[in-house]
Amino acid sequence: MKNQLDTITDKVLLVTGGSRGIGKALVQLLAQCGATVVFTYSSSDSQARDVEQSCQSQGLHVHAFKADIREKAAAESVVESIESLYGPLFGVINNAGITADKSAITLPQEDWENVLATNLNGAFFLTQAALQKMIHHREGKIIMMSSVSGLQASPGQANYSASKAALIGLTRTLSHEMARFNIQVNAIAPGFIDTEMVQSMDETAKKRIKSLVPARRMGTVEEVANCALFLLSSGADYITGHTLVVDGGMSV
Ligand SMILES: NC(=O)c1ccc[n+]([C@@H]2O[C@H](COP(=O)([O-])OP(=O)(O)OC[C@H]3O[C@@H](n4cnc5c(N)ncnc54)[C@H](OP(=O)(O)O)[C@@H]3O)[C@@H](O)[C@H]2O)c1
Repeated sequence: MKNQLDTITDKVLLVTGGSRGIGKALVQLLAQCGATVVFTYSSSDSQARDVEQSCQSQGLHVHAFKADIREKAAAESVVESIESLYGPLFGVINNAGITADKSAITLPQEDWENVLATNLNGAFFLTQAALQKMIHHREGKIIMMSSVSGLQASPGQANYSASKAALIGLTRTLSHEMARFNIQVNAIAPGFIDTEMVQSMDETAKKRIKSLVPARRMGTVEEVANCALFLLSSGADYITGHTLVVDGGMSV
């Protein structure tokens, strides 16, 4: 039986927000599997350079693009550049995301708009530009990085949970629109993953989080990256419109 996880070898992939956390793990894993990986970031120049250089020093094909995905023109330009520099774009992982947590009652308009612009608009602009290429290639994979906050109540995260729930709706609709072009669109909904986003919480909050997880620990960035690798592989060609929950059983 053919190993269906090796089907991303030599493919061109785009990971948004690859300078740290889950995105960085995605870049490293996918490049180690033989893909050419372009990743975006918006401001963390030195972190992005470190990821790019450490991957390139291992002989991996990794390239960092500075681009603010909230801007439609920037998202379109990333896709155009990838196709002209590296070849047909096979997969996009819409991973870039931010939080600005506050009670909904006092949530400033700026924090509402910025979280929606990054987490939802950015993913849509990039996906739309990528799909316009992929429908001609007659293959492609799109992954939206949602969150369990998009599936269940998440007090203090009205903006974030709205953006992550919207990504799931977008995933489902795109999966139907794109199925006849052999393009699969899926989402991943991580629970608590051990990244800077979570490490910045105080110890009491972290303890409370672990007590909510049946597995009694946070997930690792590698555990999320492995799910993306599966969804990008030909082994997952008959899976589309799905949201893969990676939360140690928390939301069940
Ligand atoms: N960590 C968790 O527990 C958890 C749980 C569920 C879901 N998630 C989701 O998983 C994804 C990654 O989370 P993480 O914890 O790894 O996040 P992170 O460490 O904060 O990294 C976020 C990445 O997104 C980039 N980014 C932010 N705004 C951007 C913009 N406007 N344009 C381009 N890139 C931008 C950042 O680069 P710059 O700083 O340079 O902009 C960075 O590379 C997010 O979508 C998050 O919502 C995380």
